[in-house]
This record gives sequence, structure tokens and C-alpha cells, in this order.
Amino acid sequence: MSKANNEVIIEGRGLKRYYHRGIETVKALDGVDITIRKGEMVSILGPSGSGKTTLINILSCLDAPTDGTLNVAGKPVAGLKEDDLVEIRRGNLGFVFQQFHLLPTLTVTENVELPLLFLGKKPDPVHTREVLAMVGLSDRATHLPSELSGGQMQRVAIARALIIDSKILVADEPTGNLDRVSGEAIFQLFKKLVNEKGLAIIITTHNMAFGYEADRVITLEDGKIVKEERPPGKAQVG
Ligand SMILES: Nc1ncnc2c1ncn2[C@@H]1O[C@H](COP(=O)(O)OP(=O)(O)OP(=O)(O)O)[C@@H](O)[C@H]1O
Ligand SMILES: [Mg+2]
Repeated sequence: MSKANNEVIIEGRGLKRYYHRGIETVKALDGVDITIRKGEMVSILGPSGSGKTTLINILSCLDAPTDGTLNVAGKPVAGLKEDDLVEIRRGNLGFVFQQFHLLPTLTVTENVELPLLFLGKKPDPVHTREVLAMVGLSDRATHLPSELSGGQMQRVAIARALIIDSKILVADEPTGNLDRVSGEAIFQLFKKLVNEKGLAIIITTHNMAFGYEADRVITLEDGKIVKEERPPGKAQVG
């Protein structure tokens, strides 16, 4: 297992995200300190509106904090323009969402290889097959999304996030559209990716049982971290 790899990959200090609506200020995130290391699976729990998506979007450079400092893969992110943020995302981050966002007319293989086309890279069939094997979809390579189950569609989305060799996988409610068994299987896949590939994975979820599968569980309320736990039996990282 690659748990010994404890390099810090994301570090946020005093992160705030305020939204101004007329005279009202919504404090979606209100002073969060967070450190994420390689080889670590971190889940973010909390009630609806507590700031989970806001936090995950900031950590993955999809959104910028109102205040605070953020380092991703050793680079300070504050004040960077969208072009530079794109570069940081491109080299480091893979995204998985509640809606799988697969293109219906493309096969599984074509969907997985899509990010390479955007990067102007030529797909390598051997690498694509390896990634499909990693997510357990070797026998579905030529299928269309409509021929897959929800759990399989989410595996395609995970493979698509892996194809560009992301160091960090970010998943906002990845099991929100799945039944319990498929959701559990997706969390087991995330664990495998953390252990075998040394990825850092950050997941938001409403499912407490799934959340506690992670190495570390962070609970948000009203934009603040109110609890940070390491479920028993989880490896100490860092
Ligand atoms: N663009 C926006 N403008 C104003 N307020 C916003 C905006 N986006 C989010 N918010 C507010 O910020 C708070 C945090 O929202 P966020 O989406 O991060 O919550 P969440 O924990 O992901 O909730 P859920 O579990 O429902 O997905 C909420 O009160 C929300 O209404
Ligand atoms: Mg959310």
C-alpha cells in the first residue's frame, strides 16, 4: 500500500466564500483550514447548504475563495487568472459528479478518452484498457451509456477522470443517483484507487455509512468545520 506517501497536495488556510445578495451576505464558507495528502481519502459530510460543494469547488480550483490562502500541488492559487487555474486543474485534478455527464452517442472507450482529445493528446489503447480494467469495465468497452447500469456509468466517469493521470480525484455526491449496493461499490473503488495509485480523493456525501469508509471525515455546518474524525482502523497518513 502507498499509504506512506504523505506529501501534502492541497493546503487551505482561512478559506472563506461569501456571496453578496443585495444587503444580505451568505457565508457559504466561513474560515476553513484543511490539509489533504496524497494516498488519502477524505469525505466531507454535513447538512444541505453547509458548504460542501462550495469547499470542494474551491479546493479543486473551480471557484476562488473570497479570503484565505490555498496551495494545490505546491502552487499558490490565490489571485491566479482563469487560464492559470485551468493549467492547475488540467495537470492535477479529475472530477466526478452526481450526474455522470456521459455523451450518449459515444462508446464507453470514447467517453473515457474524451479528455485526451481536449488536451490534444492521442489516446493510447493499451492505457485506456488498463484504466477500464482498473474500474472493472473491461467487458463494456464498446457499449453505449444507455446500455449500462447507473453504477457502471459512474465507473465510466471515474475512468474518464483517471485517463489524464490526475493526482487528485474530486467527487461531489458521486453516489447521489445510485442505489446502496452500487454506491458501496463506488466507495470500494475509490479506496482501491487511493491504495493502489496513491491518489488523493475528496468526496462529499449525504450517506454517513459511505462517508465513514474514508480515512478522514470532515463535517461542515454553516460553512465551518465542526468535526474532524479518523474512523477506527484507518491508516494514519502524515
Ligand atoms: N451562487 C450562489 N449565490 C448565493 N448563495 C449561494 C450560491 N451558491 C451557494 N450558495 C449558498 O451557499 C451555501 C452553501 O451551499 P453549498 O452548495 O456549498 O452547500 P452543500 O453543503 O453542498 O449542500 P447540498 O448538500 O444541498 O449539496 C448555501 O446556503 C447556498 O444557498
Ligand atoms: Mg452540494
